Amino acid sequence: MAFALNAEQERQLQSILERYPNKMAACIPTLHLCQEANENWVNEDVIQFVAERLELSSAHVKGVVTFYTLFNQHKPGKHQVWVCRTLSCALRGSDQILAHCEKKLGVRCGETTKDGRVTLRTAECLASCGSAPMMQVDKDYYENLSIEQVDRILDRLMYEG
Ligand code: FES
Repeated sequence: MAFALNAEQERQLQSILERYPNKMAACIPTLHLCQEANENWVNEDVIQFVAERLELSSAHVKGVVTFYTLFNQHKPGKHQVWVCRTLSCALRGSDQILAHCEKKLGVRCGETTKDGRVTLRTAECLASCGSAPMMQVDKDYYENLSIEQVDRILDRLMYEG
């Protein structure tokens, strides 16, 4: 089925388009809006929609989607966990945090738990280096992490809401 935005999302798209000097410049925020409207992933229908609305080639839009890791090319779990692995976080134990996440969730990095609740990924610097180690869960940052805190966060994702 072809992708479409609802009325509220169409208003948000208009607001995005008004903020940028041309349609190409609005490609990334438009993709974020559409990804959120499509269960957090960008499929071919979404690419086609964005290409048509922004008067871009679908190849251009696909190039943006495949370049940026925050665009999901497959449907993710209900919750997404990104463990930052860049220098500050690496120096303060992100490897151990990632290994702990993999063990507790029973998945490797890049995979989704069998029940579809959590997708585990790594991220490059999320601009919170002063509070390393950190990870992003959906839209929230969790900083100065200990293994015990990670346990509590994952328990909540796995068993609640
Ligand atoms: S290195 Fe992890 S937030 Fe910058």
